Amino acid sequence: MIKAAVIGWPINHSKSPLIHGYWLANAGILGSYEAIGIAPETFEAGINNLVLQGYAGCNVTIPHKETALQMADSVSDRAQAIGAANTLVFKGGKIFADNTDGIGFINNLKQGAPNWHASAGTALVLGAGGAARAIVYALLQEGTPKVIIANRTLEKATILSDFFGDKVSAISIDKVQETLGEVQTLVNTTALGMTGQPKLIIDISSLPKSALVTDIVYNPLMTDLLKQAQNLGLLTVDGLGMLLHQAVPGFEAWFGVRPVVDAGLRQKVLAG
Ligand code: ATR
Repeated sequence: MIKAAVIGWPINHSKSPLIHGYWLANAGILGSYEAIGIAPETFEAGINNLVLQGYAGCNVTIPHKETALQMADSVSDRAQAIGAANTLVFKGGKIFADNTDGIGFINNLKQGAPNWHASAGTALVLGAGGAARAIVYALLQEGTPKVIIANRTLEKATILSDFFGDKVSAISIDKVQETLGEVQTLVNTTALGMTGQPKLIIDISSLPKSALVTDIVYNPLMTDLLKQAQNLGLLTVDGLGMLLHQAVPGFEAWFGVRPVVDAGLRQKVLAG
């Protein structure tokens, strides 16, 4: 029986058990994937305990992503660059840390918009938090020639753009209009537009007709930003797929089968 889990604090809203449970059942694998709440004070001890109990690994979520990276014995390049881990793999008593958020973002776009190419032009990323960092890294890896980070707090966007170098620049979120004409990929990485959060107020009518618009918010699935883009006839990809695709590498590492993100999985997670 192969065991994996998701660790967070609090953990009750995690969709990960639904995702991995769906894949385990579909592949007929004798395995388990549970949600375990571990408080920050006991995080390292809790992870070491999972290693001792023979777990294959785990996902880690808020607020443990940075600590998970720090305590690992080895770290993937992408987790190092993103500065946080969401996937841990245990082997021979050692902990390997990875971050699959960025690749999940990219693979969601590849599945949802097969003709989209990161290299097509400038990307505009709204927000400068942890999700933005993973997404900017992944866009650059994928060949995006230029990334603009727009944030309410300009300083946070500047810190991020300095970290990533010449291809990345920072602007204040109220200067977004001036950039839209050159943007081929627009990503909202803020929580704005999520149920219970303030609206994202932006007029995207000056985006090129060839632009793709995506949102990491998936509650609601069709955010105001995506509705506006659809009304303009632009390509859109919703944010649920990023959540699903980020889970793929962990499942493959622990259970030995590369799972597929399909319509059944989407339905299950939306219903759950
Ligand atoms: P995550 O790790 O999910 O990216 P985060 O690190 O808390 O979350 O980042 C949240 C992002 O949403 C930030 O870019 C934040 O802007 P600030 O850096 O100025 O705080 C942005 N954000 C949150 N609430 C916002 C609001 N009401 N208006 C504009 N931006 C907001």
